[in-house]
Amino acid sequence: MRTVMVYNEKGGVGKTTLSAQIGTALAIKGYKVLMIDADPQAHLTVALKQNKRPYLYNLMVRDESDGGAWNQSLSLIAPQLYQFRHFNAKGDLYLVPGNAETAGIIGNIADSFALYNKLEEVEDVFDYVFIDTAPTRSTLHAMLYLASDHIIIPTQLEALSFDGIKQTLESLRRFSRQRQAMGLGGIELVGLIPNMFRKITGLHNENLKLLRKPFAQVITEPIPMTILWGELSQSEYASIFAYHPKSRIAQITWEIVKCVVERMENHG
Ligand SMILES: Nc1ncnc2c1ncn2[C@@H]1O[C@H](COP(=O)(O)OP(=O)(O)O)[C@@H](O)[C@H]1O
Ligand SMILES: [Mg+2]
Repeated sequence: MRTVMVYNEKGGVGKTTLSAQIGTALAIKGYKVLMIDADPQAHLTVALKQNKRPYLYNLMVRDESDGGAWNQSLSLIAPQLYQFRHFNAKGDLYLVPGNAETAGIIGNIADSFALYNKLEEVEDVFDYVFIDTAPTRSTLHAMLYLASDHIIIPTQLEALSFDGIKQTLESLRRFSRQRQAMGLGGIELVGLIPNMFRKITGLHNENLKLLRKPFAQVITEPIPMTILWGELSQSEYASIFAYHPKSRIAQITWEIVKCVVERMENHG
C-alpha cells in the first residue's frame, strides 16, 4: 500500500480536483483505492458526490464500539460516477468523508503517527491511499505528512504558487527526517503538476520553463485552464473520464496519472 498526500501550501491550485481525478483513474485501472478527505471544508467529499460526514473524525478519535471502526467510516463510490461509459472499472474506490469536525481531530489525539498507525490496519486492503488536504498549515498536517510515503504537488504557474512549492518542500524535508528517525522511509515527491496553464500567456510559458529545470525528474505536462472542471463539479459525475471522456483534458489527465503512477511503482 502506498500513501500519497496531495498538497501545496497554497489554496486554489487544484489539489481537490486532481486528488479526485487521480483516485478515480487508478480505480478504473484496477487498483483498490482509498481517498481520505482531510480538509474540514470537505470538498473532496463533495467532488466525489458524497454527503459531508464526520467519518474521518470518528475514525481518528472515536472507539471502534462508538462509530470509529473502519467499516463504519467508509463510503463506497459507485463506479457509474467515475468510470468510462460502457467500460467497467476494474478496481474499487472508497472514501473516508469529512466535514467541519475534521478540524477537531488534532485536539483529541495524542500521537502524531495516529493516521500512520490507523492505515497500517488496512495495509492489505488497499493499493493506494490519497489524502486531500487544506492549504493552511495546521497541526493536522504533521499527522498527514507522517502517514505519507509520497507527495504530489499541484501548482499554478505564478510566483505565489512557487512560494507555496518552496514552503511545501521545506515541510516535506522536516517530516521526512521525522519519519526516518522512526525507521520509516522519507517522503518522496512523485509529481509536480502545473495546473491552469494558459498557452497564450508569456508568463506561464516562462514559469513552466523555470520549473522544468529543478524539477525535471518529477514535473508532468501542464493541465490547461478549462471550464470543464467547473462543469464537472456541477454535474452528476465525479471524474472527467465519466463526464467528458473524449475531451483533450481527459486525455491529458489520464496521461499525467499514468506518469505519476509509473514513478511511484519505480520507487519500489
Ligand atoms: N485547470 C483548471 N482550469 C480551470 N479551473 C480549474 C482548473 N483546475 C482547477 N480549477 C478550479 O479551480 C478551483 C480550485 O480548485 P480546487 O481543486 O478546489 O483547488 P484546491 O483544492 O487546491 O483549493 C475549483 O473551482 C476548480 O474547479
Ligand atoms: Mg481543496
